[in-house]
Amino acid sequence: NQTRTYIFEAKYIKGAPDGYMKSIFTINGEFPGPTIYACVNDTIIVTITNHGLEPTAMHWHGILQQGTLYSDGVPGSTQCASNIGESFTYYFHTTKPGTYWYHSHFGIQYIDGLKGAIVVCDPDDPYKVSYNRSQDDVLQCTDWYHSNATYLYNLYLSNALHGAEPIPESCLINNFGQPPDCHAKKTCGYYRTEIKAGISKRIRVINTSAFAVLMCTIDGHRMRLIEADGTYLNGKTYVNVLTFNAGQRYSFIIDGKTNPKQNYWIRCNMDTPYLNGPSAQPTVRGILVYDTKFGLPPDAQFNDSEHVIQGALARANRFIDQNLVPMKGRCNCPKKSTRKIFLELAFVFSNNGALLPIMNHHAFKAVANTTILSLIQTNISSFPASANVFTIEKGEVIDLYINSEIGQHPMHLHGHVFCVMGIGKVGSGFSDASNVDLNTDNPICRDTASILFEGWMVLRFVADNPGVWMFHCHIDWHLGAGLALQFIESPNAIRKIYGTAQKPVECKMDRK
Ligand code: C2O
Repeated sequence: NQTRTYIFEAKYIKGAPDGYMKSIFTINGEFPGPTIYACVNDTIIVTITNHGLEPTAMHWHGILQQGTLYSDGVPGSTQCASNIGESFTYYFHTTKPGTYWYHSHFGIQYIDGLKGAIVVCDPDDPYKVSYNRSQDDVLQCTDWYHSNATYLYNLYLSNALHGAEPIPESCLINNFGQPPDCHAKKTCGYYRTEIKAGISKRIRVINTSAFAVLMCTIDGHRMRLIEADGTYLNGKTYVNVLTFNAGQRYSFIIDGKTNPKQNYWIRCNMDTPYLNGPSAQPTVRGILVYDTKFGLPPDAQFNDSEHVIQGALARANRFIDQNLVPMKGRCNCPKKSTRKIFLELAFVFSNNGALLPIMNHHAFKAVANTTILSLIQTNISSFPASANVFTIEKGEVIDLYINSEIGQHPMHLHGHVFCVMGIGKVGSGFSDASNVDLNTDNPICRDTASILFEGWMVLRFVADNPGVWMFHCHIDWHLGAGLALQFIESPNAIRKIYGTAQKPVECKMDRK
């Protein structure tokens, strides 16, 4: 039970992780931001000062914020955004071990770099005999854009991109990417992670993308999955290609070769059909280093174009979200729900012709100039931002029945994990729930799951955490456009915990 205190200065610096110099929104000059290492039941206190160009707020993705809903970092919901020059202190507890991350939740800001990893260690790690605990690394994998995020977002909204999302120029592992010409010139920089002969290593991967599905491989090594979004798995799933979506995390174990003669490539490939720009570099490589004297791994074994083909194969049954089995006793999903909420994910043409995502016919908008939290405290019983705001009460078991008309979407819930009760294939959407088979036999629980193109998904969660919680698509362009909803969970309990204020907090927003 330690308290860990961090001072984060959010500021722009110039950097060129993939060889292209641009302005990056960093924490203390670091991109990705400093990794927060903690153990279960620690208290984390982070004070962030905004030295940026617009307001900001930080979300701690996957942290449940039980009793600390003020720290969830959603502007307009749980706090006013921090204006330029202002500071905000976040205070929360790490109640579950595993791999998490933090990112700005202001607009589409994290695309410019404001993000980092959170690792919560576990003294009772059930896999502790299966890997060497000094061999535990975090790979933050992300799509990367050479233009500034706000500029790209405005193109997206204005229909300059003809309905498509902005196209990333490259892909990074931590702060390394490779410009297209660096292989020929032999000037590439690579992320390196070490492994020892005959020793098993844990690797954590986080997809911190705005958009891209990632498919990662490690040449010559099979990955044994042990964690998904902070949930221990049964350890029986092995993959050669790990396909995962924006917001999702996995831990896997690889076994070090007993008599290695070379180093091996780590490759992550962005799976997006839109990657056709002349300078696009869809694959990033890192190196699994057995011995520095081996130098660069050989290419012959598995080259990047094969990796893309391999990726295309993986795409056929792309996500494994529905096939994962948690370790016994880790999910405790109720067998029955008490309430069904139907959600339709679709796209509509905006006035200027841009094709933008909506949920249940609405684009979610935060209430203007205040926070939902302060409205609740004011004792107002109906909340003004009524489109896509749902009030739920303690003890309800909610089933979210979701259809996706077009597009795949990584759906993320704040303040909870949900049980993935079912994910359906292309073209099998439902108009009512009667024809859907749910998996009630030890389903996986996590905080981000992928609904497929023209597919369906049923997610179940228990209302056991009073707060104001978003549920949204983690494609940041879609979140920005309003593919989101908000749960107001147990408003009376919130008033009990935090008291009732006299009048709603007023948020002042500056924008340059
Ligand atoms: Cu990682 Cu609401 O987001």
